[in-house]
Amino acid sequence: MESWVGWLLLLCCHMFFFHFSFSHSLCNPHDKLALLQFKTSHTFSFGSAETSLTYAACSDMDPKTATWKNETDCCSWVGVTCHPISRRVIGLDVSCSGLYGEILPNSTFFYLSHLQSLNLAFNYFNFQLSSLFGGFLSLTHLNLSYCTFEGEIPSQISQLSKLESLDLSHNLWLSWKERSWKKFLQNATFLKELILDDVDMTQSSMWPLNQSTSLVSLSLSNTGVWGNLKNNIICLPKLEQLNLSYISYSINGQHLPSLSCSVASLTILDLSYNYFEGSIPVSFSNFTHLTVLDLSHNLYLNGSIPTSLLTFSSLTFLDLGFNQFSGQIPNVFPQSNNFEKLDLSHNNVEGELPSTLSNLQHLIHLDLSMNKLSGQIPLSILNLQYLIFLDLSHNRLEGPLPNKIRSLSNLTQLYFNDNLLNETIPVWCLSLPSLLKLDLSYNQFTGLLSVMVSQSIEFLYLCNNKLRGNIPQSIFTLVNLRQLCLSSNNFSHFYNVNYNFPRLEKLYLSSLGLTEFPKLARKVPMLRDLDLSNNKLNGIVPEWLHEMDSLSFLNLSQNLLTTPIKQFSRNYNLYFLDLSFNLLTGDISSSICNVSSFKVLLLSHNKLVGVIPPCLANLSSLSILDLQRNKLNGTLPSNFSMNSPLNVMNLNDNQLEGILPESLSNCTQLEILNLANNQIEDKFPDWIQTLPMLTVLVLRANRLYGPIPSLKMKHGFLSLLIFDISSNYFNDSIPKTYIQNFQAMKNVIRYKVDELYMQPYWNRSTTEFATEFATEFVTVTTKAIPMTFKKIPKNFITIDLSRNKFEGEIPYVIGELHGLKALNFSHNRLNGPIPQSIGNLTNLESLDISSNMLMDRIPKELTNLNFLEVLNLSYNHLVGEIPEGKQFNTFENNSYIGNSGLCGFPLSKYCNNTEHQSPSSPSFWREERFQFGWEVVVIGYGCGIIFGIGLGIFVLFIGRPEWLVKMVGGGLRRKMRRM
Ligand SMILES: *[C@@H]1O[C@H](CO)[C@@H](O)[C@H](O)[C@H]1NC(C)=O
Ligand SMILES: *[C@@H]1O[C@H](CO)[C@@H](O)[C@H](O)[C@H]1NC(C)=O
Ligand SMILES: *[C@@H]1O[C@H](CO)[C@@H](O)[C@H](O)[C@H]1NC(C)=O
Repeated sequence: MESWVGWLLLLCCHMFFFHFSFSHSLCNPHDKLALLQFKTSHTFSFGSAETSLTYAACSDMDPKTATWKNETDCCSWVGVTCHPISRRVIGLDVSCSGLYGEILPNSTFFYLSHLQSLNLAFNYFNFQLSSLFGGFLSLTHLNLSYCTFEGEIPSQISQLSKLESLDLSHNLWLSWKERSWKKFLQNATFLKELILDDVDMTQSSMWPLNQSTSLVSLSLSNTGVWGNLKNNIICLPKLEQLNLSYISYSINGQHLPSLSCSVASLTILDLSYNYFEGSIPVSFSNFTHLTVLDLSHNLYLNGSIPTSLLTFSSLTFLDLGFNQFSGQIPNVFPQSNNFEKLDLSHNNVEGELPSTLSNLQHLIHLDLSMNKLSGQIPLSILNLQYLIFLDLSHNRLEGPLPNKIRSLSNLTQLYFNDNLLNETIPVWCLSLPSLLKLDLSYNQFTGLLSVMVSQSIEFLYLCNNKLRGNIPQSIFTLVNLRQLCLSSNNFSHFYNVNYNFPRLEKLYLSSLGLTEFPKLARKVPMLRDLDLSNNKLNGIVPEWLHEMDSLSFLNLSQNLLTTPIKQFSRNYNLYFLDLSFNLLTGDISSSICNVSSFKVLLLSHNKLVGVIPPCLANLSSLSILDLQRNKLNGTLPSNFSMNSPLNVMNLNDNQLEGILPESLSNCTQLEILNLANNQIEDKFPDWIQTLPMLTVLVLRANRLYGPIPSLKMKHGFLSLLIFDISSNYFNDSIPKTYIQNFQAMKNVIRYKVDELYMQPYWNRSTTEFATEFATEFVTVTTKAIPMTFKKIPKNFITIDLSRNKFEGEIPYVIGELHGLKALNFSHNRLNGPIPQSIGNLTNLESLDISSNMLMDRIPKELTNLNFLEVLNLSYNHLVGEIPEGKQFNTFENNSYIGNSGLCGFPLSKYCNNTEHQSPSSPSFWREERFQFGWEVVVIGYGCGIIFGIGLGIFVLFIGRPEWLVKMVGGGLRRKMRRM
């Protein structure tokens, strides 16, 4: 009893001291000295380049140490906690204090031996983590996150046996090796919280974590720690929070673990970004305590979405985005639920939006974008009153939007773009009071009522609809607007618009039939991107446009402009200029090189004359140069400089002469080079094999001559996918050593849709577009950008050596280029047999070896070419029976004419010993697989020409060789006949 009273007294005393001790006794002088020296020896360096990154995360920029003065009691300093009685410093929090530099072994800092809690987060101690940290034996809480410590975590850390919480996260150059990691875990028997995100643990495993651990919270995101999840880290008895995201290094290809424990105590489970495969195991229905489940960005998780996940009563956050889940969204959301965020985006779910979604009355964030959802958008979803973020974009949702809604007063972001929505855009959509971003682009809306648009809007995309009538005037007075897209609609009365956009950064007014430039002078001081392409603008670009210093992206393509190019030499900050498909005449003034910021310069499809200014070869940032289809003459620039960033150069269809400048071999970033249809006279540029990234080489229709020398480099032409040197005067044998080296043509890669197209380098690296959209929309990187680059599919693998004077036999190694889609050796002087190995090119869709002197029989192996749609063997010396079966039954006479020795179907000449056989029954077609073929390419080409010309450099980059047009035409006809 007595001792009980004693305790109570002691407790009271403690509380008393705790509240009033500051005014009584002062802090320990040793500790004070230690702190003062620690402060002075780590200089503040706010704003320096190295520390700025660290500071971006610190909202409070005031260094806590600013209050540390010799004259005051150190226990009263910000960030310092003293023991109420002993007055020793037991707690130190100097996070976000701008401290800098190495903590040396002789630092007084290590005298603070009574520390129980230490927080140095968000400072810049860019040196080895000292082993002396192992001397703070009383520590229970240690936070060294974001300190840029480096090197190995010292083994002495295992002496901190009282630790309850350890956070070493986001020290990218810190590593933890297996031995000391294991020792640490053995000793850390009180450890409840362990956060090691980004620490390099690639040499450690998860295995030391065993059932005896007291861990409640464990985060190993992006550590590279290895081990098989079957070891059931998920079933650790006390574990409530587990983050194993981004450890794909060890997970790749595993299935999600089935639980061995019957009751899992987990409340937070993050397994995102790991390339897990397969479906969600049934045992996940045991996670009844979950509040947060993140399985997003595994890319390969599939199967249906388990009903149980949607019915957990405590779940607030469910993210299954960026996987391959399919089937319908189970319509089971219960009346009582706690969902705040639901993300099923970037999957293959289909069917209608489940009606029980309307039960999710606490929902703040709903993302179902990039799926195959269909049907109408039910009113009930639009009455989820707490929604802040709603994304249903990139689906197949249809019909009109509900006319009236009750309330979405908190909604800041609304994305319905890329669906099949139609009729009038309802009033509520534009007038939601908190709205910042609205994207209704790429639908079939026809009407837009003249309403007061919400003044808060920053981002308004209405492009690519069928909107008619007047644009609400209130749109033009939105003072907060940063991006506006009205492109591709049928608005009337676009004139006398009074623009007033003090903050506007991007304005897209393409394809609106404009005949005059919008009156933007001094109305858009912040404008960076302006797209006026595909209108009817004529004459000369107005003066104010050249005076707009903020402008960096300007698309004026597909108009009727005659403006001289030299005017643009005043637009110093442009990095993107597209004037293609206009009526520009005159020459390309060399003053254009004053705009040293150019990354992309597109002047194609005009009537420009004169020489290409040599200074263009030296523009330090120029990555894409497209001058195709003009009347340029003279020679190519000969002074390409070392480390040129040139990535794409299209100079085709001009009147260029002279030789190929060897300095092009300095352009080591070059991927696409098209010089077709000029008058260049030279030998084969065999120095070009040194370009490591060269993917597309088109030298068609020039005056190139002579034999092609053997390959000189071991690694020449490894990346090449399109090799077109047709219609020249090359002779001697086909360059066999090249074919042997075309490594990229040997691979058959099944690209996912979003990886299929070649991307220009400037867009791939972290330049404007990529970053901007990636950071603004974390989940979707392809929000409707009105710029559609038509691109080359990476599996468009082609060799064209036609119309030269090649002799000798077709090399047998051609059969190794398994990725080939089209092969054209026609109109040469090739002889010998058709190699059987061509039968291995099972992706081939077009084969033209006509007009040569090939002999012997047609190899039976060619019937293996299941995707072959175009076959031309005409005008050779082939003999014997035409093989039958499969695709071969579809080719007509003209595939074979001019070979007097051939017989059998489809020729009318029967073979001697063979009865004429009727063609296979039509059922054959139903059995054959017809995969993506020329149709898609044809459509691509068609669109490129009709719609995409503005930026269609990647479609038109090769032009369309004669044979391709024919082949494509033939292929299409054949397909139609089959239907
Ligand atoms: C702090 O003040 C004490 C006495 O006022 C003095 O002796 C000491 O030198 C001072 N220390 C520093 C670091 O200025
Ligand atoms: C600590 O050691 C460094 C050299 O390692 C020396 O330059 C510095 O003066 C020492 N600091 C103190 C406080 O003794
Ligand atoms: C475990 O902690 C105790 C107490 O701090 C210490 O004496 C011992 O050396 C530690 N063991 C290891 C393996 O570090």
